Amino acid sequence: MRRFDGKVVMVTGAGSGIGRATALRFASEGARVSASDVNAEGLAATMGMLDGAGHHSRVVDVSQAQACRDAVAATVAACGRLDVLCNIAGFAGAYHLHEVTDEFWQRMIAVNLSGVFFMCQAAMPHLLQTKGNIVNMASSAAIVGQVYNAAYCASKGGVNMLTKALAVEFASRGVRVNAVCPGGVNTALTQSFRVPENPDLALFSRLSSLVQPMAEPGEIAGAVAYLASDEARFITGDSLTIDGGQTAS
Ligand SMILES: NC(=O)c1ccc[n+]([C@@H]2O[C@H](COP(=O)([O-])OP(=O)(O)OC[C@H]3O[C@@H](n4cnc5c(N)ncnc54)[C@H](O)[C@@H]3O)[C@@H](O)[C@H]2O)c1
Repeated sequence: MRRFDGKVVMVTGAGSGIGRATALRFASEGARVSASDVNAEGLAATMGMLDGAGHHSRVVDVSQAQACRDAVAATVAACGRLDVLCNIAGFAGAYHLHEVTDEFWQRMIAVNLSGVFFMCQAAMPHLLQTKGNIVNMASSAAIVGQVYNAAYCASKGGVNMLTKALAVEFASRGVRVNAVCPGGVNTALTQSFRVPENPDLALFSRLSSLVQPMAEPGEIAGAVAYLASDEARFITGDSLTIDGGQTAS
């Protein structure tokens, strides 16, 4: 499939995991990819894997509003247009409520929620020109409460509602906004997951059942590409769950 020939696609968090798989997927379908990540090394590795030519890369910390504006402006300057924004950058961390520091909470909201907002806000004028669309990375943590994951759940629940609010605001002007809600995905994020000390094992088993078995990053990237494609022309404001049915009951 070459659904993105002639299109320019921005992907945040492209230095690893789902973001890298998403960048690879769009490039394999003909897009010029503007890849960004706070991790320069991971980003450079991704750039070396992309099919095609004319891709763009930039080190960006999405928690910084001006950095997001600069990244969008640099993409349009380098690539001439913007058709799709994929907000994938994010991180996780499991703690008992009393262990959550002010810094952890503020960083979680700044990266996982404010970063998505800043990128959407900066990209929207360009997406209005191309009748483009946005795909945000939420999580099963946006759908069900997860033990020891209050900050992450709050950030991803916010992503889902930001998605719906923007979908409503821009539907009549031709810009679609969707999200995906993966369960467990086999990436650095899940590989580095640490169980907090003295977990309530009965509660914790409910969290484990939400992340096992895991999807591969490419399976999530396939869904992101579908939502961003013209095949999903009538889908906006949706949060597509990709978790093997774990949150279905
Ligand atoms: N892996 C899972 O099970 C899972 C499930 C649901 C949702 N998600 C979400 O998918 C997204 C990607 O996660 P992943 O599993 O691929 O993890 P990952 O750790 O492999 O990749 C995350 C990437 O985001 C980048 N990043 C982190 N903070 C950033 C910042 N401030 N600015 C720019 N880039 C930043 C990291 O450097 C990294 O390259 C995240 O939003 C995560 O919450 C993951």
